[in-house]
Amino acid sequence: MQIKHLAQLALASGVSAQTLQDMLAQQNATLSILNGFLEQQQALFNSLTNTADITVLAPSNNALSNLPQDVVNKASTDPNFLSALLSYHILNGTFYTSNLTSAQKPLFIQTLLNSSSYANVTGGQRVVSDVKSNGDVNLWSGALSPATVQSNNFNFTGGTIHIIDSMLSMPSNLTTTLLASNLTAAVGALQQSHLAKTLDQQSELTVFAPNNAAFEAIGSLIADMTADDLKNVLKYHVVEGQVLYSGMVTNGETQGTMQGAKVTFREEDGELWVNGAKVLAANMLMSNGVVHVIDGVLNPENPSAEPNPVAATPAPAFIGASATGGIPFTTGITPPAATSTSNGPAATITVGPGGW
Ligand SMILES: *[C@@H]1O[C@H](CO)[C@@H](O)[C@H](O)[C@H]1NC(C)=O
Ligand SMILES: *[C@@H]1O[C@H](CO)[C@@H](O)[C@H](O)[C@H]1NC(C)=O
Ligand SMILES: *[C@@H]1O[C@H](CO)[C@@H](O)[C@H](O)[C@H]1NC(C)=O
Ligand SMILES: *[C@@H]1O[C@H](CO)[C@@H](O)[C@H](O)[C@H]1NC(C)=O
Ligand SMILES: *[C@@H]1O[C@H](CO)[C@@H](O)[C@H](O)[C@H]1NC(C)=O
Ligand SMILES: *[C@@H]1O[C@H](CO)[C@@H](O)[C@H](O)[C@H]1NC(C)=O
Ligand SMILES: *[C@@H]1O[C@H](CO)[C@@H](O)[C@H](O)[C@H]1NC(C)=O
Ligand SMILES: *[C@@H]1O[C@H](CO)[C@@H](O)[C@H](O)[C@H]1NC(C)=O
Repeated sequence: MQIKHLAQLALASGVSAQTLQDMLAQQNATLSILNGFLEQQQALFNSLTNTADITVLAPSNNALSNLPQDVVNKASTDPNFLSALLSYHILNGTFYTSNLTSAQKPLFIQTLLNSSSYANVTGGQRVVSDVKSNGDVNLWSGALSPATVQSNNFNFTGGTIHIIDSMLSMPSNLTTTLLASNLTAAVGALQQSHLAKTLDQQSELTVFAPNNAAFEAIGSLIADMTADDLKNVLKYHVVEGQVLYSGMVTNGETQGTMQGAKVTFREEDGELWVNGAKVLAANMLMSNGVVHVIDGVLNPENPSAEPNPVAATPAPAFIGASATGGIPFTTGITPPAATSTSNGPAATITVGPGGW
């Protein structure tokens, strides 16, 4: 039997062997709610018991008792949802905290979540880790929802367990991800140009999402744009077939977009830029890729726009455009409630892990 075999190996190497089940039970004072969820998921639990080289991110009782009611209801009534949610808390690989704290840049770690509703990306949906200035490990999940490792390195025969202070939030599609961060103009523009549904259901995307102020700044021009013009501009904000987390592009690199023209990535004084637009929040995970929030609408007719790190307000890439008052495209788009949930994304833009 697999477990017995592992136990013998561990004994032979002088390490006391504890299975995943033993270790979770040993921490039951902190993990009883999670243990209860796992009991409802015997198939998943058995497969985890037989999988070597994993890291379990175990939400504490405190984290799980603060869940929003809609998540609790869904987890209790939809076994596929619960199974997906638990799989998202399992990293592919044994990452001791030293592995996470020694990284110089954010890590984009593959999880066992591979259901295409939440992970239409190659190799399993990611969790992002980076290190706080006090040395704590941050974990970022869907739409930049934060969690922190609160106690760590509970080793078992197949890997290790870290206890975390918030449940991870499974990434959602582009529209839902943008709405969660109040990027209502981007959502409205995508809907008006009939791109929203396509981009919600296409795998492997990188999307640059201008914030509301960026759309507001070119209000004069937007009034005269045809649906085709708008679509052309928005397609310049999408790289297809590649999920470009920040650590994967280099300063000066260019990438072709869905529109056809290329965008250029740059780093200036530690800030990240796409053409002449600054990245305000990098690495917002969505089900089918990643979103980087930027402070300007990119112009496919002006691909040579360059960063201007000293400008007080960003200069639009559309020459002569100006604000006309009001944020375009937001009619009929419902913004998120002002109060964010304990584990969900903040309704305002969170600055997550950065660094190209
Ligand atoms: C964990 O604690 C809960 C509640 O106290 C209890 O019902 C459950 O049987 C315990 N589970 C284990 C694996 O010890
Ligand atoms: C973990 O990643 C490796 C390498 O990418 C892959 O071959 C393996 O199937 C993954 N394991 C699981 C359990 O997803
Ligand atoms: C963790 O760090 C150790 C020691 O540097 C290394 O051997 C191991 O491959 C690392 N694990 C992962 C998953 O990167
Ligand atoms: C998804 O993960 C499950 C459990 O790890 C595995 O059985 C299944 O083969 C995976 N599916 C794909 C498409 O990789
Ligand atoms: C778990 O294993 C890692 C790597 O060998 C080690 O650094 C850590 O101290 C171990 N944890 C405990 C609680 O012994
Ligand atoms: C996007 O996700 C939301 C929330 O899960 C869902 O209601 C909507 O149908 C999805 N959109 C598409 C086009 O799949
Ligand atoms: C995932 O992407 C593929 C290819 O783009 C698409 O056909 C499929 O509908 C997507 N799945 C979901 C759940 O959006
Ligand atoms: C969403 O954005 C709008 C305008 O950009 C702002 O008025 C509103 O306060 C924001 N909502 C939240 C919850 O931050």
